[in-house]
Amino acid sequence: MDRKVKIGIIGSGGIAGAHVRAYKQMPDVEIVGVADVIPGKAEEFVHRHELLDAQAFDSHLELLELDLDGVSVCTPNIAHHQTSVDALNAGKHVLVEKPLAITLEQGIEMVQAGKKAEKILTVGFQPRYDPNMKAVKKIVQSELGNVYYVQTGGGRRRGMPGGTFVNKSLAGAGAMADIGCYSLDLALNALDYPKPLSVSAFTSNHFGTNPKYHPEAEKFEVEDFGVALVRLEGGKVLNFKISWAMHADSLGPTLFLGTDAGLKLTPAGSGPWSGVWDGGIGSITMFHDVQGHHTESTIPVQQHQYDIFYEKVRDFVVAIKEDKPAPIPGEEILINQAIIDGILRSSEIGKEVDIEIPEV
Ligand SMILES: NC(=O)c1ccc[n+]([C@@H]2O[C@H](COP(=O)([O-])OP(=O)(O)OC[C@H]3O[C@@H](n4cnc5c(N)ncnc54)[C@H](O)[C@@H]3O)[C@@H](O)[C@H]2O)c1
Repeated sequence: MDRKVKIGIIGSGGIAGAHVRAYKQMPDVEIVGVADVIPGKAEEFVHRHELLDAQAFDSHLELLELDLDGVSVCTPNIAHHQTSVDALNAGKHVLVEKPLAITLEQGIEMVQAGKKAEKILTVGFQPRYDPNMKAVKKIVQSELGNVYYVQTGGGRRRGMPGGTFVNKSLAGAGAMADIGCYSLDLALNALDYPKPLSVSAFTSNHFGTNPKYHPEAEKFEVEDFGVALVRLEGGKVLNFKISWAMHADSLGPTLFLGTDAGLKLTPAGSGPWSGVWDGGIGSITMFHDVQGHHTESTIPVQQHQYDIFYEKVRDFVVAIKEDKPAPIPGEEILINQAIIDGILRSSEIGKEVDIEIPEV
């Protein structure tokens, strides 16, 4: 493609600003339109970000009538599905913010729309661009032998969002989907996304619904804590736990236990909103036997200068320009989505549920 890539933004809230900041650093990209359902919000966003050539709309359907190559979907979770399907059906490539969707069925429809349109559907997991995440995957696949147990997740002591993140009609799900999808991606991507078979989950929201802890307690409907045991194909099991708020400083490290070695990861950062993987990896330790001795090896954490958010947005643009496959394909993230869907179903009925992902 020897012209500028034409981009539209759907949803003009907080994260849309990060997408725009990334696109604006790219001389080969022009942002031609922005849409938001709140009347006047897209217009205000266009002015604030000095998007001089961009048109503003109150509906994504009007935006999709423009001559666009791709869109960033930056709406609350619940609207990822419809806006992405509409964009793909209109022949636009899609970078959708995480989580992919709320239910597995929505995720399947999104992937099907992408396949039918032969357009990119990629999911915004910027931690994939962290060199330490790449190093973890390499170690898991080369040093550990047969990995049979993974424990992941994370816990903020106090880190509950508000606004569009806490009621079911906009967020669809709480901590399990919001920050949990990153943990799932960290663990499952390292294992090349094995298929989940069943899940038994428990969720609660004792903090979010208590005005002592959350200013919007009266409209807080999603989970602020959850734990799930997920059986994976190939004789593996995943123990997944997440909290937005709790009376503890940690829900434990991420562990990969293999037949030859084990790997322990702790998240970077400190403070009430830390303890999860969107802030990067703080330490990596490998447990193995060397000449018959129990050995702990500290793997250096690379201090990098990458703007991983920029990298994810750039990879989307490069895929459009060079006709490449989706950098983080929706099809792969369907597995992540299937687990979140299973957790919501299992916690609702209080029993283990089967997970079946149809061929798409
Ligand atoms: N990758 C990251 O680091 C990261 C960080 C924060 C949020 N997110 C994700 O980004 C998404 C948005 O989060 P946010 O913090 O920007 O939320 P936000 O509430 O600040 O913004 C969302 C905007 O979308 C608009 N909207 C809702 N439905 C729409 C529709 N159908 N069409 C057009 N606009 C619509 C809302 O009016 C709002 O202005 C969420 O899915 C969240 O999980 C990702």
